[in-house]
Amino acid sequence: MEIIEKIEDMRNKSRALREANETIGFVPTMGYLHEGHLSLIRMAKNECSKVVMSIFVNPIQFGPGEDFERYPRDFERDCRISEKEGVDYIFHPSSQEMYGEDYLTFVEVEKLSGIMCGAARPGHFKGVCTVVLKLFNIVNPHVAYFGEKDYQQLVIIKKMVKDLNLPLLVKSGPTVREKDGLAMSSRNKYLSREERKNATVIYTCLNLVQELIYKGERDLSKIKKEVLDRLKENESVSKIDYFDFRDPESLDEIEMIGKHGRILAATAVWIGSTRLIDNKIIEF
Ligand code: PAF
Repeated sequence: MEIIEKIEDMRNKSRALREANETIGFVPTMGYLHEGHLSLIRMAKNECSKVVMSIFVNPIQFGPGEDFERYPRDFERDCRISEKEGVDYIFHPSSQEMYGEDYLTFVEVEKLSGIMCGAARPGHFKGVCTVVLKLFNIVNPHVAYFGEKDYQQLVIIKKMVKDLNLPLLVKSGPTVREKDGLAMSSRNKYLSREERKNATVIYTCLNLVQELIYKGERDLSKIKKEVLDRLKENESVSKIDYFDFRDPESLDEIEMIGKHGRILAATAVWIGSTRLIDNKIIEF
């Protein structure tokens, strides 16, 4: 496995791989790898002849007062794990390498970036899209892999790829969960023992939504009330940014189930001082 820190070296490598008719699978990450990332690496390994993973904690997707400084990092551990998984190249640039001193260009997918997580974290998706587009331009992959836990991010990136005619395929992998249902996230490390135990309420609520829909409830405002009550009862839940029902493709809000065959239930909940997101697609 090779570690590449410079943009020019990554570009040259990618050009050489393409000239050698290799297919490049790309897994962008912010490091501190968990099973969710590994499942994407395994998908990429299965489908492509070379796998590039980026590890870059992207400063511009964190707002003022968010957890950029304390975001968990362990590059050596990440390298050991990646090597074992058969990653061929880790692209690990510095912030200076990515943004320099006089950086001025940003990418925004309008409308979709201002709802759900975007409403609570203004500028977040602009930072995500900007770095992802830069990484796509540098790595030049055939296929890029993203996790479905960040469902809104996935929809926004697919839209950016479509709108900007980017020559690559975006694929996604299902959310990987702990045994008790908590979605795997690098941020789970912030949780105290008590909070970790109580954090399962998020998955319980997503399952409750499914149960109520399967029992015949069609009015999503009633389901939302029940779910919010359940969340508020939990002593570790300190804030609920949103609990939304949306069309899984357009992210348009759904209030009443009509002809929809699938809906997305998505939420961002603060467990103590840790903001966790999760979602479930309910098919019926
Ligand atoms: O999902 C993430 O880890 C990040 O948002 C990404 C896509 C690597 C961009 O920094």
